[in-house]
Amino acid sequence: MKTQVAIIGGGPSGLLLSQLLYKRGIDSIVLERKTKDYVLSRIRAGVLEKGLMALLEEAGVADRMHAEGFPHDGTLISYGNEMFHVDFAKHTGTKVMVYGQTEITRDLYDAREAADGKIEFEVENVVIHGADTDKVHLTYAVHGEERRIDCDFVAGCDGFHGVSRQTIPLDVRREYEKVYPFGWLGVLSETPPVNDELIYANSERGFALCSMRNANLSRYYIQCSLSDSPDDWTDEAFWEELKRRIPADQAEKLVTGPTIEKSIAPLRSFVTEPMRWGRLFLCGDAAHIVPPTGAKGLNTAASDVHYLYHGLCEHYENGSDAGLDAYSEKALARVWKAERFSWWFSSLMHRYPDQTTFDHRMQVAELEFLRSNDAAQKAMAENYVGLPY
Ligand code: APR
Ligand code: PHB
Repeated sequence: MKTQVAIIGGGPSGLLLSQLLYKRGIDSIVLERKTKDYVLSRIRAGVLEKGLMALLEEAGVADRMHAEGFPHDGTLISYGNEMFHVDFAKHTGTKVMVYGQTEITRDLYDAREAADGKIEFEVENVVIHGADTDKVHLTYAVHGEERRIDCDFVAGCDGFHGVSRQTIPLDVRREYEKVYPFGWLGVLSETPPVNDELIYANSERGFALCSMRNANLSRYYIQCSLSDSPDDWTDEAFWEELKRRIPADQAEKLVTGPTIEKSIAPLRSFVTEPMRWGRLFLCGDAAHIVPPTGAKGLNTAASDVHYLYHGLCEHYENGSDAGLDAYSEKALARVWKAERFSWWFSSLMHRYPDQTTFDHRMQVAELEFLRSNDAAQKAMAENYVGLPY
């Protein structure tokens, strides 16, 4: 087979890139290791920045997001018995949209299928050949049958565990990583959200987050030990612990019920440089990971897609490689800022096993400052709603 852009990975990055390119008449093929049902069973964060919303609009997949998503113009932050509001609309004139990542992925699959887009599922052993030459091609297998794609460019959208990043030689690649000494236990429950806004809670017992999907579907998280397993946590134990970590008036209002999903995610900050090697371009989780505090994962993937999409359009429409040549530098400049915000917000809100009383007082002092200082709130709001592309 032949295509212009071969895209490895049928997660949100790969699908969004493929759909955007299709709108500009640029041909692509998406290769996905899992089945579509498996990809759609993954539950991830659901707060969208303005830039991602604009990309979904441009891709023609924003109707359901606008109909079913919830615009949020601020967030709540609690510590001890204090709770305060950071007003995004006041500080930035912008809102974020709460709409599940799984729903975006579903909308993208629907759009690719409606356009007869080529997606191969259950591909194995994808190998990228000649990425640093003029003739790049991929080989892979589907149910034991060997296949080949010749292409102009490869977009490595295959997540943290994919092959694309590993294809870049070690003497070219530099990796930066921080692993946090705790995880997030997340549950989904068919109960009304405790508050209209998200609540990020710093408590003596550890971090908690109250989020939502819709009027009768809530998403809650509590910081947990990395040695915990979801089975260690009964629904009752989860709700009791959550109530202890959020302000008393919120705990009183919390509606509990059976959980329909329960899982534990580790927290990691990770960046690889460069994000381009010859004709291979890394995008999204393949190149960087953020801890989920602040929900920057998908939004950072979206800014990569934006730069790569425009670089490819310039190449095919104007014969200029300026955008592609600048891709790694531009994408990384924004990635590092999102990394900083996610690291800062994570550091501010969690209990660390080796935290001293001094460290704790520093968190409280910073939270007090954020509560009472307009400039600090503005800086937080600007990062939360998304820095410009
Ligand atoms: N061959 C083909 N597909 C692969 C391979 C491979 N060797 N390795 C991984 N994949 C697929 C995975 O099965 C997955 O569906 O690539 C896809 C990558 O999707 P994600 O991990 O969701 O990554 P991405 O599309 O970059 O999404 C952005 O940022 O922080 C996160 O929550 C956020 O998941 C979101 C992500
Ligand atoms: C979520 O709704 O899953 C969510 C929201 C905000 C975050 C992380 C996760 O910071």
